[in-house]
Amino acid sequence: MQLTYYGHATLSIRVNGKTILFDPFFTGNPFAKDLDIDKIKPDYIFITHGHGDHTADLVNVAKKTGARCVGAAEVVSWLKKNGVENAHPMNHGGPVLFDFGKVRGVNAVHSSSFADGSYAGNPLGFVFTTPEGDFYIAGDTALTMDMQLIPLWAQLKFAVMPIGGNYTMDPTDAIHAADFVKCNKVVGVHYNTWPIIAIDTEKAQADFAAAGKQLLLPEPGETIVV
Ligand code: NI
Ligand code: MN
Repeated sequence: MQLTYYGHATLSIRVNGKTILFDPFFTGNPFAKDLDIDKIKPDYIFITHGHGDHTADLVNVAKKTGARCVGAAEVVSWLKKNGVENAHPMNHGGPVLFDFGKVRGVNAVHSSSFADGSYAGNPLGFVFTTPEGDFYIAGDTALTMDMQLIPLWAQLKFAVMPIGGNYTMDPTDAIHAADFVKCNKVVGVHYNTWPIIAIDTEKAQADFAAAGKQLLLPEPGETIVV
C-alpha cells in the first residue's frame, strides 16, 4: 500500500487498485499551499467527521472527481443537500463491503458538525480490511477503551492517528492507542498545522521508539510505502 500525506489530517491511500482520499482539507491548510490538488484523483473519499479542517474541500473534490463519498449518514445527507449524489452512508458498526475491501465504522471520541452549523452525526474512525493488509484511520479522537475492540476485527499493518493534542490525542496517548489496537507502526497526523497543536516531533518519535514502536511523519506531498 502507498500513503500520500497532504498535511493536517488529509491523506490518500492506494490499496487494491483504488485511491482513497481522507478528509479533504486544502483551502486554509498551510501545508497544502504548494500542492497541485488537481492531480489527486480519488475513487473514494472517506470523511471521519464534519469539522472544517476535514471537509473544507469535500464538496468541490467530490463534484470534480465523481469519487464515491463514504461517511456518517448525516454527512451523506449533507452531501446530497450540497449536490453530491455518489455517497454511501454508514455509522458505527458494519462491516460494509466495497470493491477494495471491508470497512467498519468505529468510535471516535470527539464532536462533529459542519462549518454552517448543521449536525454531522457521530464522528467516526474506520477499520479497513483488504487483501493487501488491514489499517485503521482513527479520525479526530481522544484515547478510548473502545480501541481495544479493533484487534477482534483486524490485524493492523499500520494505523493513522492524531498526535497534536488539545483537540485529540497527544503522542503519549497515541502510544497507548497503538498498544490498544496492537499495531507498532503509526502514521501521525493532525499536528503542527497551527500553534495550538504544535508538538516536538523529535521527542514524539523518540518516545515511540522507546516504546518499541515507529512513528512515521511523512512530509506534505510525500508518498510512503506502508
Ligand atoms: Ni475535529
Ligand atoms: Mn480536526
